[in-house]
Amino acid sequence: MALSGSIRKGSTNHRLLQAIAELTAETLDITIYDGLGSLPHFDPDLPDGEEVTAFKRRIREADGVIICTPEYAHGVPGTLKNAIDWTVSSCEFSGKPTALITASTDGRYGHQALLETLKVIEAKGVEQLSLLIPFARTKVDKAAGITDGKTMSAVQELIREFVKTLD
Ligand SMILES: Cc1cc2nc3c(=O)[nH]c(=O)nc-3n(C[C@H](O)[C@H](O)[C@H](O)COP(=O)(O)O)c2cc1C
Repeated sequence: MALSGSIRKGSTNHRLLQAIAELTAETLDITIYDGLGSLPHFDPDLPDGEEVTAFKRRIREADGVIICTPEYAHGVPGTLKNAIDWTVSSCEFSGKPTALITASTDGRYGHQALLETLKVIEAKGVEQLSLLIPFARTKVDKAAGITDGKTMSAVQELIREFVKTLD
């Protein structure tokens, strides 16, 4: 399962996930979850509604999760953090192989913050399975996908390691 921290049309992160799905088509079945923007604001008092239940089920059923996200205002995009907050007490990420790619203009603050969150909710292997791609818009093209050689090698290496952590 793949999550894009950017839900805008034409997102670099969404395109990067598509590129990863294309690269791994013979070995992995990657589905980009498109419902992040429909999840309600997290409230611990609220019972799980239909969307939240479906989101949690998708994570539980996935062999692993790949997250690609930009940084917004030196932090994690609210939509993505909101979705993750829904899983904290029900532990969907606990022991789940999880790769984190931050593809942003800079991205280092959001990357560290999300890495810390994923570690505390016990996402499996995330510290080793993390990659920061600065100036992402110059390396991922809408039509061609990943156009930068170093980025391509780093992504391929990350996916190789990710596959090793899948049960
Ligand atoms: C509200 C907003 C805040 C942003 N803040 C940051 C930031 O703090 N650091 C950064 O590296 N990029 C920042 N950016 C730029 C994003 O990295 C850039 O737009 C990126 O391409 C977004 O990812 P996407 O193409 O997947 O939507 C910001 C963009 C927006 C819209």
